[in-house]
Amino acid sequence: MEFSISSARAEAVKADAVAVGVFADGDLTASARAIDKAAQGAVKAAVRSGEMTGRRGTVVVLRDLLGVAASRVLLVGLGDRGDFGERAYADAVRAAARGCSGAKEIAVAATEWAVKGRDAEWQARQFAVAARETVFRSDDLKSKKDESNGPTRAVLLHAGGTPAQRGLKQGTAIANGMALTKRLGNLPPNICTPSFLADEARTLAKEWKLGVEILETKQIEALKMGSFLSVTRGSAQPPRLIVLKHSGGGKTAPVVLVGKGITFDSGGISLKPGLAMDEMKFDMCGAASVIGTMRTVSELKLKLNVIGVVVACENMPSGTASRPGDIVTSMSGQTIEILNTDAEGRLILCDALSYVERFKPAAVVDIATLTGACVVALGNVNSGLFANDDGLAEELMKASRRSSDAAWRMPLGEEYQEQLKSNFADMANIGTPSNAGAITAACFLSRYTKAYPWAHIDIAGTAWKTGASKGATGRPVPLLAQFLIDRA
Ligand code: BES
Ligand code: MN
Ligand code: ZN
Repeated sequence: MEFSISSARAEAVKADAVAVGVFADGDLTASARAIDKAAQGAVKAAVRSGEMTGRRGTVVVLRDLLGVAASRVLLVGLGDRGDFGERAYADAVRAAARGCSGAKEIAVAATEWAVKGRDAEWQARQFAVAARETVFRSDDLKSKKDESNGPTRAVLLHAGGTPAQRGLKQGTAIANGMALTKRLGNLPPNICTPSFLADEARTLAKEWKLGVEILETKQIEALKMGSFLSVTRGSAQPPRLIVLKHSGGGKTAPVVLVGKGITFDSGGISLKPGLAMDEMKFDMCGAASVIGTMRTVSELKLKLNVIGVVVACENMPSGTASRPGDIVTSMSGQTIEILNTDAEGRLILCDALSYVERFKPAAVVDIATLTGACVVALGNVNSGLFANDDGLAEELMKASRRSSDAAWRMPLGEEYQEQLKSNFADMANIGTPSNAGAITAACFLSRYTKAYPWAHIDIAGTAWKTGASKGATGRPVPLLAQFLIDRA
């Protein structure tokens, strides 16, 4: 779906469909009023008859109205004017895009759907992100493609102004990054292997002129990443460490993103129960979000140095797999007693986090589907945010609010660190079962990130949806992209 801005009036815009808003109780927006006037009361008639109630998410289609250039007029219910917030805005945009099946080009009078505290740039950005969500399909591997007759062009009706243009450009790039993240996340684990992710990174780098370096087993061994290597040991798939570089910031210190890329998490010898185990193909969504964000950053030509690191392998049980009780030596030299092979994310991330010290980063943010405990704590709404630096945490929280990609700050602390004590190694890889599991996982990582400002985003609850709408969400690409846009 392509986006543009037009300053045409709703009744005059040349498109297959034009969408205008109606608040609850028939309270018309300016464009709905203009169309009503041009079409001699057709909108008010739809309201009076009770067909259009203005209830949030509802759509009524009027056709071939006299005095209106578009052949279809979509009346989109916006709900109560007083409650109209960020979610209502995104819902309305999606309702408009979904409500015009068969139309190629749709014009939406969305900038007049004012959200408190949000400007035209925000509206345009969220417009692109929300509209693009409606045309995403996951039928790459279906022999019969899902019927896809959503609009291919969306025009935002807005009278001039660079902020809206800028917002639309950002939104398009964010939506493109999210689509890539979702596609990779949804791929099955027999296709989306560590080497597949490396190939995807290479392709992306070529297309978007990113620097790329892929480290294979020998190089990972030479770096003495004993912790990372212990996780891949049970798998027939070789591991990969992927480095993507966007150089838009001259000689300034880079922001480094590190993504957990477990292409399938069986748990290893500490095997997971069978229920919904297929969803552990999503255990590389952190990696996918790093790759997607690198695309966004490059598309926006951000004046910032950004390095994306993906640490990828598979966690499988076998005769060569790590055992509970094994002690391994991480790249940092710290030793780890593996008490549970299913706590593998932290084992691969800790070596990647040591590796990125060489970039002398301004900040490091890791993104990981790290703990089931984070899902217990925050559900599917908020990602868990941890940081060793309050300034960085506040920057990320601000980006979270601006992008409507919810996150909630969680604590670290000495008291929790005690749970990681081992009698035989420098630390254990798990804390006390059923006790602050998301925090102890973050505490584990914090032992490897003392050299730079660091934040960790646990996306175990937010990276994908289960049930009927099973699939990757593309989060937290909006948060990460906003964070980088604001830094550039
Ligand atoms: N990838 C999982 C975390 C996860 C579980 C994400 C369920 C989303 C849904 C991670 O590798 C894991 O298995 N963590 C364990 C840690 C435990 C053994 C300390 C967990 O959360 O159960
Ligand atoms: Mn696991
Ligand atoms: Zn995992």
